Amino acid sequence: MHSTFQKVSKIVGIKPSNFRPLPTSDATGFALSPNVVHMAMKDDVASGLVPTYLCATMGTTGCCAVDPIEGLGLVAKEYGVWLHVDTAYAGSAYIRPKFRHYLDGVELANSVSFNPHEWVLTNMDYCCLWVKSPSSLQDSLSNNAEFLSNNASETKGVIDYKDWHVALSRRFRADQTPSAGCDCSNKTDETTSIYRELCKLRFVLNLYLP
Ligand SMILES: Cc1ncc(COP(=O)(O)O)c(C=O)c1O
Repeated sequence: MHSTFQKVSKIVGIKPSNFRPLPTSDATGFALSPNVVHMAMKDDVASGLVPTYLCATMGTTGCCAVDPIEGLGLVAKEYGVWLHVDTAYAGSAYIRPKFRHYLDGVELANSVSFNPHEWVLTNMDYCCLWVKSPSSLQDSLSNNAEFLSNNASETKGVIDYKDWHVALSRRFRADQTPSAGCDCSNKTDETTSIYRELCKLRFVLNLYLP
C-alpha cells in the first residue's frame, strides 16, 4: 500500500488508529492475503467498527508486489466496502497481453487508477482514474456556486469533472498520451504491439475529451 493512502485517510477524517496496514510476507511475494483482510474485517466488525474501503495494489512501489484482486474483491463484496485497485506504478505493464491475467477479478473493483507518467513516457502529472459508478463521486462532491453555473452543465451537455474530485481548476490530461501517428516499421514485434495498445488507449481516452 502506498503512503498516499495513509495521508488521504487522514484528510477524510479516518482516525489513524482505524487505518489498517496489514502484514504481508515472503510466502505470498508480499501480496496482501484475502484471508488476512477477511480476519481483520471480521475483528473490526466484532468491535463495532464499519469497514469502508480496501486498497489493493497491483505493483507496489517498493518491490512491485501484486495483490490478488479476485480474492480481495470477494472479501470487499462480502463486507460492502469500496475496493480501489491502485496500479499507479505498474499499471502500464497490463497493456501487455502476457500480464493481463493479473487483472482477473478487476470487475469487482469500484475504482482503478494508473499513472502513465511512471512507465509510458508521458509528462508528470498524469493519473488515469476509472470509476465504476461516477455518481458515487458526484453525490459526495458536487456543489454549485453561482459563478460556476453555465448552460452546458445544466443541460448535461458536458461532464463536470469538478464533481469527480476535490480540486476545481485543473486541466484534463488525456491528450498527453503518446501520439497515435508513430511509425512502427523499425521496431521489434514487442514494441510494436505495446505501441498499438497505447494508440488504442489514446483513442479510448479521447472519446472522453470534452
Ligand atoms: C503504487 C503507487 N500508488 C500511488 C502513488 C501515488 O500516486 P500520485 O502521485 O498520482 O498520487 C504512487 C506513486 O507515485 C505509486 O507508486
